[in-house]
Amino acid sequence: MRLAFALAVAAIAAAPAVLADDALDQRVRAFLEKERGQWHDLNVPWADGQILHDVVLKHGFRRALEIGTSTGHSGVWIAWALSKTGGTLTTIEIDPGRHEQAKRNFEEAGVASLIDARLGDAHEIVKQLPGPFDFVFSDADKDWYLQYFKDLDPKLEVGGCFTAHNVIRSGGSGAREFLDHVKKLPNYTTTVETGSGEGISVSCKTR
Ligand SMILES: C[S@@+](CC[C@H](N)C(=O)[O-])C[C@H]1O[C@@H](n2cnc3c(N)ncnc32)[C@H](O)[C@@H]1O
Repeated sequence: MRLAFALAVAAIAAAPAVLADDALDQRVRAFLEKERGQWHDLNVPWADGQILHDVVLKHGFRRALEIGTSTGHSGVWIAWALSKTGGTLTTIEIDPGRHEQAKRNFEEAGVASLIDARLGDAHEIVKQLPGPFDFVFSDADKDWYLQYFKDLDPKLEVGGCFTAHNVIRSGGSGAREFLDHVKKLPNYTTTVETGSGEGISVSCKTR
């Protein structure tokens, strides 16, 4: 009996924390529905935002980094999942206009308090961020994908996942070079989610 109770407590403690906040849930959902089909700044399509949300939630990730905020579509999806796991997101954008619009969108969606939105060159900021992270979404300059991965690999926790957009379509040689590299690593398991057709790679660190 005592053993069964101890096992039940351990199982609950090991499960990803899912925080119930129905009001926030409704607010984010309403924002995403309102803006659906209205994103015009290289933002991820709906299906890809859903994939990012689901990966974060499934693993219970709490320390997320996004490279390439644009106006914040993927950031809202990721932060929505983090609102349920108790996590936070750092996101980086080089374009001042997009950065400002993203901040307005985060406010409207109700997730601004979960997001540290940085304005600047991710080539430098990524190197400076101490980490650790358990989730990364790479969606800025494709020619730098491999370098972003190399800079972040030491800062990614075991069990964490590094995701990258456009590995099937529109990523060019930079995304291909990154994907070839990460697929060969013995301490990562890489899968590719088709989503909208643009493709999201999900590389999870096993040791
Ligand atoms: C594909 S868009 C990101 C879309 C965003 N993830 C979304 O779904 O809403 C890529 C963004 O990366 C930004 N970017 C490109 N190079 C960058 C760099 N070196 N540092 C920071 N941001 C960069 C671009 O200005 C652009 O807004």
